Amino acid sequence: MFRLLRALINPAGGLRYHLRAMLYSPVLWRGFRKNIGAWLERWNPPEHRLIIIGQSGGYILNKTFLSRFQHIIAVDPDLLAALIFAARFRRTCQHITIVTEDFFITPEYSVAPLQDFLAKYGAAAVLLSNFLGQIPFLITDDERRRQLILFWHTHLVHLLAGRNWASFHDRYSSNQRPTQWRTLQTECRCSAETLIRYFYGKNAGGTFIDHETEGYFPNILFYEYSVWQLTPRNYHLIEAVYGEKSGQRTQ
Ligand SMILES: C[S@@+](CC[C@H](N)C(=O)[O-])C[C@H]1O[C@@H](n2cnc3c(N)ncnc32)[C@H](O)[C@@H]1O
Repeated sequence: MFRLLRALINPAGGLRYHLRAMLYSPVLWRGFRKNIGAWLERWNPPEHRLIIIGQSGGYILNKTFLSRFQHIIAVDPDLLAALIFAARFRRTCQHITIVTEDFFITPEYSVAPLQDFLAKYGAAAVLLSNFLGQIPFLITDDERRRQLILFWHTHLVHLLAGRNWASFHDRYSSNQRPTQWRTLQTECRCSAETLIRYFYGKNAGGTFIDHETEGYFPNILFYEYSVWQLTPRNYHLIEAVYGEKSGQRTQ
């Protein structure tokens, strides 16, 4: 019961996120959904199973992409999110497994729970669905936040090795409206300066919130950046990146 309540008021999702999705997804999120849809189409992993971390109600995902998989394993502690996801995609996906366990925040600096969970689904691709950039907001203690983010920066990519994986996540957010809305594709990860200059021009000022996602994945991969207008006054710069089983660069 306590876990359920905590998930519902979870600052990375919960009721507030579902309410925002209801209000803003049909119009404000449409462009971003389209960009992520095109990027997912290019990822195109051959597996029939997909693990989605932080799927929420799947508001950013589309049926064409999800229908490629016979089995979706949706991992999000928010049970309401799981119910919404299952209801929205029950006709699209043959088999949906709901997992509400938290593998990232509660285990104290241990890769074992996530490693064991991934091992259970050996032949699955993994999509981190706008989750990594939320980690800083799930930990209240400053020192623990710093240590845990550093821990996952070090270990996550190794746990994903040998699989097809993809992640889209917040890099920065701000209440200033960008001046550029076209996606940016690069052959290596963009620095904060490059990113902000591209989306806001060279006279960009004001406050940008760093979602501390710069250290998760190798520098040399194909990266794509786009804007997600979360609310009328809230803009997120989203980084999308994927890697192949073989560890080779992909586009
Ligand atoms: C920004 S939302 C994701 C949006 C979603 N992918 C979509 O398509 O709308 C972040 C999600 O991460 C989830 N989350 C929070 N802690 C988590 C954890 N430890 N493991 C997996 N997901 C988690 C939240 O419940 C929330 O649904």
